Amino acid sequence: MSNSFYDKILSYKKKQEEKNPMDLEEFYGNTIIEPFRIRSVEPIRFTTMAERTELLKQAGYNPFLLKAEDVLIDLLTDSGTGAMSSAQWSAMIASDESYAGASSFYKFESAVRDITGFKHVIPTHQGRAAENILFTTIAKKGDVIPNNTHFDTTRAHVEHNEAEALDLVIEEGKEPQKIHPFKGNMDIEKLEETIEKRGVENIPAIMITATNNSGGGQPVSMKNIRQVSKVARKHGIPFFIDACRFAENSWFIKTREEGYENKTPKEIAKEMFKYADGCTMSAKKDGMSNIGGFLAMNDDELAKKCRSLTTLTEGFPTYGGMAGYDMEAVAIGLYEALDEGYLRYRIRSTAYLGEKLAFAGISIVQPVGGHAVYIDAKKMLPQIPPLEYPAWSLANALYLIGGIRSVEIGSVMFGLQPDGTEKPAPMELVRLAIPRRVYTQSHVDYLAEAVIETYHQREKLKGYKVVSEPTVLRHFSAKLEPLE
Ligand code: F0G
Repeated sequence: MSNSFYDKILSYKKKQEEKNPMDLEEFYGNTIIEPFRIRSVEPIRFTTMAERTELLKQAGYNPFLLKAEDVLIDLLTDSGTGAMSSAQWSAMIASDESYAGASSFYKFESAVRDITGFKHVIPTHQGRAAENILFTTIAKKGDVIPNNTHFDTTRAHVEHNEAEALDLVIEEGKEPQKIHPFKGNMDIEKLEETIEKRGVENIPAIMITATNNSGGGQPVSMKNIRQVSKVARKHGIPFFIDACRFAENSWFIKTREEGYENKTPKEIAKEMFKYADGCTMSAKKDGMSNIGGFLAMNDDELAKKCRSLTTLTEGFPTYGGMAGYDMEAVAIGLYEALDEGYLRYRIRSTAYLGEKLAFAGISIVQPVGGHAVYIDAKKMLPQIPPLEYPAWSLANALYLIGGIRSVEIGSVMFGLQPDGTEKPAPMELVRLAIPRRVYTQSHVDYLAEAVIETYHQREKLKGYKVVSEPTVLRHFSAKLEPLE
């Protein structure tokens, strides 16, 4: 009787026996785990609130002036604070420290060329050194450099050469709550208008910062990069990418832009760079290194000028301010930053923190960017007026309550005008920047709990006043006091 219950069981059993392990279904799970295991650990120090109260007071209520050992979770920056891999460390041991023509340089050059496609690769000690060399060489008084949003150091170097740093990010990029997949895009119409108004001869370069750090770590789409490139090429203006977080930008293109879902992050990065004439890079971010950077370009004449200045300010052009072992670390780090498993974990873990905070009712810049979560302190602390520094107050409370160090991006950072007066900054944000491969999911869970606890105590928070400050970049060293 072929249809009997007994036959069914027999045939099922037979099938089970025939099944080889290869027939098992793939398991992914819901948790995106850290794609590494930890072999070397660095203890972090727990302090009491009483200790932190005293330490913060001694630091003039300025988290920049705290000792790192007094911080439990340090989210001041994602720059140079990442963990290197065993592959990087082992390559560093075997580095070539020759002054000229070291093999470590050629490995570095070949990795940068492979990913960016640029002909000339000039090493520098970090990103701002590449900016200094580029803008000293190309910019002069009366020039204008359009960018989606200049990062502080980029702006400073443009202005140091008496040129104007013009931010042309799309309107959506200026609204913290607005959801848009590519809030780092440049406004193409405004770019065309600028070129018409200011004249091609006064625009030595157009720049795109990917991802847009000052705008919340927001990505730029491939379409936008292509459009900027088209405009630049039509007018014969060089187009440079500030590529600090190029790998994170590639991941956003892969996951958000039609037509890129089946491309690898490396293919996407290569395409991004293909539309540009050069780039500046801080290897302290997506170079997965603790120090280093580069300036790269195709133009032979420009490269010649930039190399001369490199020799003057950084070092011989085959090390440019980096040790051979730094170049080894970057040569490997650039590829590790493009690894799909890493990028999936990286972008997801930042979003995970953002989602926890948003779920608890905290206003953050949406959607969450690649390297950081930005809290809207103006929304959280309406009782503190901008010139009593709500974001500063929140950053200090995060330290007192959770031992967390973050950074204010608000009126202490931007409010002081060159004539000595004060003006509120457009936004009062606290940035929680996530170092690469450093903290685990339980650190992030703790972080979220501490931020949410601070949110619950928000009505108790008070404003601050500045008691001493330098004339420029005051946030780094100003001393403050809480208001009664
Ligand atoms: N461009 C961008 C977009 C950056 O975020 C940074 C640094 C630089 C250039 C300068 O690079 O530090 O190597 O000289 N950003 C760090 C931060 C400092 O905390 O966001 P650098």
